Amino acid sequence: MSHAAALSPDQKRTLVRDGFVVLKNVVPREVVARAKTLIKTDPTRIAHGDEPAINDLFKASMVADVLEEAMGRYTPPINAQVAVTMPKYADAVTRNRATPRTAPVAHVDGGWAGPCPETRSEIEAAGGDLHTWGKDGDPRSLGPAGKAPLWQDRQRTVAIGSYTALVGVCLNDQMTPGKGQFAVRRGAHEAVEAFFRHQRAAGGPIGGGGPDWPRLIPVGEDTAVAGMMPKAMVDRYPDTAFEHPDWPWPELTPVLMGEGDAVIALHSLPHTATPNLSDEPRMNVYFRIRRLRDENPFEGDPRVGWGVSDHPDRCMNGDFLDYPDDYDAVGMSVEKLCDHWSEWSGLKGFVRATPETSDTAARV
Ligand SMILES: [Fe+2]
Repeated sequence: MSHAAALSPDQKRTLVRDGFVVLKNVVPREVVARAKTLIKTDPTRIAHGDEPAINDLFKASMVADVLEEAMGRYTPPINAQVAVTMPKYADAVTRNRATPRTAPVAHVDGGWAGPCPETRSEIEAAGGDLHTWGKDGDPRSLGPAGKAPLWQDRQRTVAIGSYTALVGVCLNDQMTPGKGQFAVRRGAHEAVEAFFRHQRAAGGPIGGGGPDWPRLIPVGEDTAVAGMMPKAMVDRYPDTAFEHPDWPWPELTPVLMGEGDAVIALHSLPHTATPNLSDEPRMNVYFRIRRLRDENPFEGDPRVGWGVSDHPDRCMNGDFLDYPDDYDAVGMSVEKLCDHWSEWSGLKGFVRATPETSDTAARV
């Protein structure tokens, strides 16, 4: 049996409340099988380019229709992220599962993340500081992992890339906790939006390095990392503990899915991969979807990496796009970061608008 072509009213209420919703049996069995065969030939491959067997998980499933009904028109994905977590991947960090030494931490996509290439003493010697490090940095540079750029624009006003929804297609049984699930801070999407509003009201920049969000966090003797969510944001997340004997991270909610299920999660919902404590590979494929912006001349441009990029206002490789003078690409993204439900035309009636001046979460 396959999924209906639209979210039910209950599913829409769940998406609004939790920031994510699971679609059961949404991808045909044969489409799943074809994708798995391809992935198994090379399980370490992270990104498959324009690969029909992978992209059909979205295109040849009900996900495409469900999303269009909920969101309105969006830019079709032409790339995807294949995410395989091998079994016992985290043995080293979870030897004592009751108190793992390194717990997975949820993040919002689009920020420059990873170890800082300069030591703390080097930063200090140059007269800089951890909070605003990168303020004068080359806006063209990509993060240490070669992913998100340091800035989204040449003017360095926005430090976080964004899109509308992360769609994760599940290719193996992940119904019991501890199987390397995609996990989320359930319901925290409103606190994230409120934080972006706060940063905008304070004059920006938006993202790491902006108001109340230190770009770097000190770690170890003399090093620092980027990509952690700021305390001022995390402190506002709702308390949604997930208690289960095989799940050592109660602040995270594992998204429990079976083969052929999918999850739709808002960009603003903090999420993370989790260690795979089971005996079989965890296999998911992710599509990053942004609602169509009619004025944007680069919708569908393959340089952007539509479907896989978390910074679609720039090229996937970090190059800038030359927007027309009358189109403010990052200004539009900030507007959406600060009003995420405005990108979901099919959820009207399920979302209660919050005044722009409010930083409280008052959604139904
Ligand atoms: Fe992510």
